[in-house]
Amino acid sequence: MSAYGITLFLHSWTRWAVVVTALMTLVPSILGWLSGAHWDDAKSKWASWYVNSTSIQLVLGLLLYGVFSPVMQKAFSNFGGAMKDGVLRFWAVEHMMMMIIAVALAHIGAGRIKKAASDVGKHRVAFIFFGLSILIIMASIPWPGSGADPRPLFRLALP
Ligand code: HEM
Repeated sequence: MSAYGITLFLHSWTRWAVVVTALMTLVPSILGWLSGAHWDDAKSKWASWYVNSTSIQLVLGLLLYGVFSPVMQKAFSNFGGAMKDGVLRFWAVEHMMMMIIAVALAHIGAGRIKKAASDVGKHRVAFIFFGLSILIIMASIPWPGSGADPRPLFRLALP
């Protein structure tokens, strides 16, 4: 059991908290936007759980990126060369940059929800910002069978 293994395991599973909280926020947001429903506490809670779970991913991701990941240590040992390798470039640049943009969108969205003057406005902002954020996340997760370095859907053991 290594710090790398534990961090990667947590990062792998917290992805599901991100996906579930996104769904629990987006479905009521689009319905509320279309129907003019009231923005209630339950919606605020799911929205903050989405923002929190992406923030946890940011912290775990930064730990993997800067400290624990042997893949990143290999990339940092020759960064120029890593840019020519699809797998190393995916982890060193693509995954990290897209995920940081997605986490930033979640935070900006949460601020804009608070500022929106009407309930319709809150639903609209939630749907647009969190929708864009989760689209970027879904496109940047290394799903099985896709991309440069596919990973398991459910990591059942520490690497
Ligand atoms: C919502 C945001 C994020 C999600 C959903 C996410 C998701 C994932 C997933 C599913 C994996 C594969 C885990 C496995 O192998 O089982 C992974 C690996 C990784 N992620 Fe993220 N990630 C996010 C943000 C970030 C950020 C912001 C960074 C960097 C600053 C980052 C850096 C990494 C690294 C370095 C690896 C592993 C490379 C290795 O195998 O050593 N992630 N991420």
